[in-house]
Amino acid sequence: MVAITLLHLLGLLLATITPLVYAMPSIFSRNKNSPLQRKDTLNEAAKSSTCAETSFDSLSWTAQDFWFRSSVIFSTPAHRAVADGEVSFNLTNTALDYTQSCYARSLSPTDFFYGNEWYTCDEPFPTGTNITGAPNITVPAFAMAVFRFDRSAGKLDVNQTWACLGDDLDGGRDSIFFNASGTANISLQCDSQRWQNPDWKMGQLYSTDTVDCAAKNVTIFPFQIQAWEGLGGVSI
Ligand SMILES: *[C@@H]1O[C@H](CO)[C@@H](O)[C@H](O)[C@H]1NC(C)=O
Ligand SMILES: *[C@@H]1O[C@H](CO)[C@@H](O)[C@H](O)[C@H]1NC(C)=O
Ligand SMILES: *[C@@H]1O[C@H](CO)[C@@H](O)[C@H](O)[C@H]1NC(C)=O
Ligand SMILES: *[C@@H]1O[C@H](CO)[C@@H](O)[C@H](O)[C@H]1NC(C)=O
Ligand SMILES: *[C@@H]1O[C@H](CO)[C@@H](O)[C@H](O)[C@H]1NC(C)=O
Ligand SMILES: *[C@@H]1O[C@H](CO)[C@@H](O)[C@H](O)[C@H]1NC(C)=O
Ligand SMILES: *[C@@H]1O[C@H](CO)[C@@H](O)[C@H](O)[C@H]1NC(C)=O
Repeated sequence: MVAITLLHLLGLLLATITPLVYAMPSIFSRNKNSPLQRKDTLNEAAKSSTCAETSFDSLSWTAQDFWFRSSVIFSTPAHRAVADGEVSFNLTNTALDYTQSCYARSLSPTDFFYGNEWYTCDEPFPTGTNITGAPNITVPAFAMAVFRFDRSAGKLDVNQTWACLGDDLDGGRDSIFFNASGTANISLQCDSQRWQNPDWKMGQLYSTDTVDCAAKNVTIFPFQIQAWEGLGGVSI
């Protein structure tokens, strides 16, 4: 029974996250300069879950294994035949015990990523994932993350929504939902290779430009966190 309940729960959470985010009044919010408010209104079980504690008290993300690559190929001096940029990293959250892969591709040279478009990271628990068999779940059941990257400014922005499920799955009163936004400056180490055909003739490649960049693990600090109790959202 627990197994079925959890799967249904997960489906429900995924299906209702959008209305939840907008419909549920947030019970706490914080920006960089003020502490989370009203934490004391939560019941003890919710407050003391490791996930919730960490979310409230020491939240940060790490972008691991960050890389950016681009390739631009001209087939004639005037014809750009290929323009391809990719960015990738793995996102971890201090409150969560799983990693999300974040990846985006752009065909807009020459910086490819201009900080104006949000991309979605992988869903860590795709439909069918077996997270059953844990009768007393105290870890979050889902997370949704989006990011945007500004290549010329070296700026990475992340928003993530997650849940710290309490162990009172019937009432769902112990569960807390969070969303948070963070930003970081990324210092990239890049290797750029440019080749130009010294004696170009029609039918040959005219030039190629490749850029291959990587960054050390980047810590991303939240500048905004919101949390709300998942009363209706996790009751089934
Ligand atoms: C967080 O959720 C609240 C609703 O509770 C919503 O107003 C806000 O836009 C969300 N913020 C982010 C960064 O998703
Ligand atoms: C990033 O995630 C991918 C896919 O899950 C995995 O193959 C890779 O090992 C991860 N890299 C790091 C540095 O965690
Ligand atoms: C899912 O987990 C349950 C409980 O641990 C186990 O009995 C079942 O075989 C698992 N199913 C799959 C498809 O892994
Ligand atoms: C789950 O919680 C119940 C009640 O608190 C407890 O009796 C049971 O041993 C717990 N099960 C596990 C696997 O921790
Ligand atoms: C991410 O969060 C920022 C600031 O909290 C907000 O302005 C922006 O709309 C959010 N983007 C998405 C795609 O949720
Ligand atoms: C990123 O760098 C800019 C310019 O140096 C600075 O104003 C900003 O505070 C930095 N952001 C973070 C999150 O460190
Ligand atoms: C990045 O973080 C991961 C996980 O914490 C760690 O295994 C890896 O060694 C770190 N890489 C660097 C270059 O610090």
